[in-house]
Amino acid sequence: MEIRKALPEDIPAVAALEAETFSLGADASALERMRSDPGCPILCAVEDGTLLGYVYFRSVLDEGYVGDLAVRADRRRRGIGRALIAAMCAEAERRELAFLTLEVRESNSAARRLYESSGFLPVGVRKNYYEKPRENAVLMTKTFPRPSGGEE
Ligand SMILES: CC(C)(COP(=O)(O)OP(=O)(O)OC[C@H]1O[C@@H](n2cnc3c(N)ncnc32)[C@H](O)[C@@H]1OP(=O)(O)O)[C@@H](O)C(=O)NCCC(=O)NCCS
Repeated sequence: MEIRKALPEDIPAVAALEAETFSLGADASALERMRSDPGCPILCAVEDGTLLGYVYFRSVLDEGYVGDLAVRADRRRRGIGRALIAAMCAEAERRELAFLTLEVRESNSAARRLYESSGFLPVGVRKNYYEKPRENAVLMTKTFPRPSGGEE
């Protein structure tokens, strides 16, 4: 398996997994806009030409906002989600981001556990943030040390 930035030809598979996984996910045209925006990388886990999972985030100045993370249902619990988060954090550090932050459904204990064990800390709750179904979001943030030699 390799993890790499999405290519134009990855978008249909990313859009299909997004639609299968999230009730209000991004569609193919929104995903293609992100892919072609250098501030919005989509990282794909690919094996033998097949998309196994993806994660995307937006960087604005030195801040990072995680969009969606998904792994194919038949390939979960094999470390792919963890590998995607590690690749995203490495990319965030390469961009010298101060933090990555995300929202996760309160009931999504699998994702919360994964984020927490990857260094994201719960920092707050957004009431009724999600629709379909309505649910609170837990806000989780991972901070990165300032690169040495950086100005305060
Ligand atoms: C959340 C998700 C991306 C995890 O992907 P994954 O490849 O299965 O995750 P990993 O195999 O790397 O698991 C890493 C850790 O996460 C936790 N975890 C993952 N799935 C879990 C589950 N079903 N139950 C409990 N803990 C779970 C465990 O701590 C696991 O470590 P372990 O296997 O050593 O116990 C995947 O379940 C998914 O696509 N879910 C639907 C979409 C989603 O919820 N995305 C996050 C939205 S914010």
